[in-house]
This record gives sequence, structure tokens and C-alpha cells, in this order.
Amino acid sequence: MSKPKILVARAVFPEVIERLSQHFEVESNQADETWSKAQLTDKLRDKVGALTIGTDRIDAEVLAACPQLKICANMAVGYNNFDVAAMTAAGVLGTNTPDVLTETTADFGFALMMATARRMTESEHYLRAGLWNKWSYDMFAGSDIHGATLGILGMGRIGQGIAKRGAHGFGMNVIYHNRSRLDAASEAACKARYVSKEELLKTADHLVLVLPYSAASHHAIGAAELAQMKPTATLVNIARGGIVDDAALAAALRDKRIAAAGLDVFEGEPAVHPDLLTVPNVVLTPHIASASVPTRLAMANLAADNLIAFFTQGKALTPLNAA
Ligand code: GLV
Repeated sequence: MSKPKILVARAVFPEVIERLSQHFEVESNQADETWSKAQLTDKLRDKVGALTIGTDRIDAEVLAACPQLKICANMAVGYNNFDVAAMTAAGVLGTNTPDVLTETTADFGFALMMATARRMTESEHYLRAGLWNKWSYDMFAGSDIHGATLGILGMGRIGQGIAKRGAHGFGMNVIYHNRSRLDAASEAACKARYVSKEELLKTADHLVLVLPYSAASHHAIGAAELAQMKPTATLVNIARGGIVDDAALAAALRDKRIAAAGLDVFEGEPAVHPDLLTVPNVVLTPHIASASVPTRLAMANLAADNLIAFFTQGKALTPLNAA
């Protein structure tokens, strides 16, 4: 009997391709070519399943051209590249990779916050440029993490992981804002206090964004929100590009309306707003918050397991819709 045909849209660990090949006829992209939407659609046309990443857009147009498609397994916890309503209407299941990346991503969010507050990359560039010829009392003096107020916007699994690190490891005072308030036990585990978005903006010394991207969260942090933050505050975005208005942020950093920012995600990435590249008080990383080797392997395996479970047992492990 012939195996179902699937597409693995981007390069992944060879052992994951190997596992998938035991169940499927796999077309892979181990050369990691960047495909246009039209190319992706063409490749998907004769497939029943796909392993995608967060930049592979699956919308009504793609779905209409690929009537055989039954499942798209995203190798990411975020899934704003999926038009879930259109997928449900087309009878296509979407899956993501929750849980396996929570702790690694929380580690990275915390690291980015520390690097930002303590001006690590800015000072490294100075050293590498050969500018360090004497020590001075205020050289790259930043702000403290321990004992400071940590604000978290978006208190899901990763937000709670960052809160726990701050509260238990660094004695931080944790406040958060979220669409819905956590139950008392979860708040107690994070030692976190629920506040309005306005109080969060005004009070946080370090504000970390961990909310999902949607039309509702587009530019959740723009010029008006940045103006409410303390001039000594830092902002960290490990959520999604588009949640922050990057042009407004670059202007706020240039004018020192906030002290510094750490960004792992960007509007229109992999392009980065040119003004962010010219301000010194920002730490920039290329969307790597979940990028530890064990976690990336776990994500790829979970995406593969979703495809295998769906076709062998009729049920995916981490479904996003009831297609
Ligand atoms: C990465 O951004 C993810 O959503 O997993």
C-alpha cells in the first residue's frame, strides 16, 4: 500500500525525516530553500500533511489550492501563520508544539532581560572595537534585576516560567497583566500580582512581553504605551513581531524615553527596522528563544508525532482546532 504524501517545508533534524519516512512518502527541504507562498502552495498540492514553521502561511488561498490537505503540524508554539478559522472551514487540522519549549524559552526571556538591563552586548561591542583603555565608575552602568519589579504581559506557560525565575531566583516583585486572571494557586506559585495594563506599564522596571500575536495584540506596545513606562525601564519582546510598534520603539530608545530593549522578534522579520540597528541601547537576537538543541529536537519530534498520530490513530496530540 502506498504511504500518505507529506511535505516538510523547512530543514529539520535528519533523524526526524528518518522517523517520518517510516510512515510517509516525504518531500523535504533539507537544503532549507526559502519558498514563496506560490512555491509552498505548489509543493502542498499533492500532499495530505505538512510540517511547517511559523513563517509558512496557511490561509484560505493555500487551502483552496490544496484540497487533499488534512493536517499542518507547526513546529512552534505560536501559530499566527495559520488562519485557523479557514483551516477549520476547509477541514484541515492544525497542531502546534506547546510545553516542550516552555522552560527553554523562559530561560531565554530571562537571559535577554538580564543582558538588556546590564548592557551586555553594547559593552561587548565597545570592547571588541578596541575602545576600552581605562575603567570608569559609570562605564555601562545599567539597572538591577534582583529586587526589581518584573512586569509580564501575557501570563501563559512561558510567562509563568519567567515569573517563577524572577520571584524565586532573584527576589523580584512580580506583576502581570493577561486577558484573564490566573487562579489563586497559579498566582501563588509565581508570587505574581494581577494589575491593569496601565499599572503594569507605569510600575514595571523590566517589562517582558509573552502574549500571542493576533489582531487584538497588534501594536499592544506603541508610542502611547512606551510613554507610560519609566524612563529607567527596559522592555523585552520574545513573543511575536507586530506586538511592538518597532518604529515607535526605536524612537523611544533613541530619545531615551525608556532605558533599553531586548528583542528576539521583529515586525516583518527577518527584516529588522533600520532604526533599531542604529540605536545602541537594544539587544537584538534572531528569533532564537526556543533554540536549545534538545528543545528544537523535542519540537520537531512533537510536530512529527502529531502527523504520525493523526494518520495512524486518527487523533493528533496537540490539536488547535476540531477539523
Ligand atoms: C516560536 O516563536 C514559537 O512560537 O515556538
